[in-house]
Amino acid sequence: MKTWLKPADRLASLPTYVFARLDELKLRAREEGLDLIDLGMGNPDGATPKPIIDRAVTAIQDGQNHGYPPFEGTASFRQSIAAWYYRHYQVELDPDSEILPLIGSKEGLTHLALAFVNPGDLVLVPSPAYPAHFRGPLIAGAKIYEILLTAANNWLIDLATIPPEVADRGKLLYFNYPHNPTAAVAPRQLFVDTVEFAHKHQILLVHDLCYAELSFDGYRPTSLLEIPGAKDIGVEFHTMSKTYNMAGWRVGFVVGNSHVIQQLRSLKTNLDYGIFSAIQTAAETALNLPESYLENVRQRYQIRRDFLIDRLSKLGWQIPKTSATMYLWIPCPPGFSSTDFALHSLQSTGVVVTPGNAFGSGGEGYIRISLIANPDRLGEAIDRWEEAGIHF
Ligand SMILES: Cc1ncc(COP(=O)(O)O)c(C=O)c1O
Repeated sequence: MKTWLKPADRLASLPTYVFARLDELKLRAREEGLDLIDLGMGNPDGATPKPIIDRAVTAIQDGQNHGYPPFEGTASFRQSIAAWYYRHYQVELDPDSEILPLIGSKEGLTHLALAFVNPGDLVLVPSPAYPAHFRGPLIAGAKIYEILLTAANNWLIDLATIPPEVADRGKLLYFNYPHNPTAAVAPRQLFVDTVEFAHKHQILLVHDLCYAELSFDGYRPTSLLEIPGAKDIGVEFHTMSKTYNMAGWRVGFVVGNSHVIQQLRSLKTNLDYGIFSAIQTAAETALNLPESYLENVRQRYQIRRDFLIDRLSKLGWQIPKTSATMYLWIPCPPGFSSTDFALHSLQSTGVVVTPGNAFGSGGEGYIRISLIANPDRLGEAIDRWEEAGIHF
């Protein structure tokens, strides 16, 4: 029998994307008249800052921007990235060979696997992790070795748990601190050790610094490329989505090893035409916003963090203060799996949270709450939990 409607195995083997499934459930709940408080996705609330929008409007009106953008991104966006990177990390990058603009970092994280992974190759990925870190490799036909992260180890990678034969077979290692979903931050030494590990076992390091600027109480995240030797074996992904409220604009970038960037670029010339030039112009403005803008953003999330940690403590959750990201990662009440608890919250209170198992089996037993609403709305979410008898 012909099987022309059967999707490729690479698609069938992917677990359902939990956020897509959550969207269906949210739609149904809305149809039933529930007023949802959506703290599920890491989708920043509020508008993109006005200077970015103004610059985009001007750029859209310029006919020079209406054709296909350059495959490698506009020279001026790449130069702005190099200058931004130097300002933040005092590391020099060649805008032509060590920087590539992306249609959001998810796109690049996924395509990088297609550029480097052959079917059957082993890719090392922490669990829990941002889904693209394992789904990209799965699409490319990789076998995944899950590096289990645990609360006992503060959700940090323990390289000593990786058997040497696994490390020797590993082709790529994805990692991400400040970490989604757990909000863990890693000491600089973990980066140093990981770079050494990657050199020793000849592994391509892929660091995702999505939350580069969303950090609190004076903490500043480490960039992979600050570590001596990192550029020889690694790349780092950045996004404009979170800090600059530009999630819908779809723009990010990757920096680091020029050979790796060249391969990703070469793959992408076959897949897409890059980012609308007007959006790249607007992203330049974002990277040049004054430090006071970043301070305001940090403060906004910090206030929400403190508010929610305090309210949750009255329901029995003792959560240490997080140093970065826009998430709280909390254990499910006894007797609930991640999915059960997320469904119970949605169906009985209209509060949408993400079940921890969306981030891999290592996230089972937890849920993630995104700090994407103001304290009054966060307070209402907790009021509803209280009324529904939800506590830890
Ligand atoms: C760790 C991490 N990496 C990448 C992304 C995707 O960002 P972008 O909007 O640039 O595709 C996210 C989004 O939540 C994330 O949490």
